[in-house]
Amino acid sequence: AVKAHRIVTIDGPAGAGKTSVSRRAAGLLGLAYLDTGAMFRALALRLGPEGHELPEAELDARLGAMVFSLAGSGADTTLLVDGAPLPDAARTEQVGAMASNLAVLPVVRRRLRLAQQALGRAADLLAEGRDMGTVVFPEAGRKFFLDASPEVRAARRVGQLAALGRPADYAEILRAIRRRDDQDRNRAASPLVPAADALVIDTSLLTEDAVVARIVEAAGG
Ligand code: DC
Repeated sequence: AVKAHRIVTIDGPAGAGKTSVSRRAAGLLGLAYLDTGAMFRALALRLGPEGHELPEAELDARLGAMVFSLAGSGADTTLLVDGAPLPDAARTEQVGAMASNLAVLPVVRRRLRLAQQALGRAADLLAEGRDMGTVVFPEAGRKFFLDASPEVRAARRVGQLAALGRPADYAEILRAIRRRDDQDRNRAASPLVPAADALVIDTSLLTEDAVVARIVEAAGG
């Protein structure tokens, strides 16, 4: 029999604290960390702001030519696109919005799903995104859905951007988060929704340490 790889999924909206929590939990659980939002962001950076208006065949060809791989392990896993890590510029809210525009397109979701599943066949994975537990890895051993109020998420995003040396306006970030939420939750293809068997954690009033501890405990670290 083929060895089934161990998969843990973490889904949730923008700014719920998924990325830092997922990276740390992956380290503690001994899993490689896959940031699937980074795959959508990498495509957005490559195609620019009008990328989602390209003809479907061109999008398919551009995606088919991109090679995704993981280097390192645990909390130190790095996603490589054509052998190179993502630049910090990929982390801005603007690129997030561009990624969200691309993410409504079935051709984009299909290509990235296949790439994500291929990575999951190659390693034990903690996969983070919007549809990991529902669509990409429905057979995952443990599924989580992290949520928080839009206000808390906006405040966190402002903090993260400040740490990257990119001061941002709270009201503007809150608007952008609401817009992106709305688009991610209401799209026809793989909308953001908790899997029926996901453990939902509202992180609004929890510290990052507490969220990581809860995940590691529930995933049987
Ligand atoms: O998690 P993030 O903010 O880096 O994701 C950027 C965008 O990519 C997000 O707004 C929607 C899209 N995305 C998705 O549709 N499915 C995923 N599994 C991950 C991200």
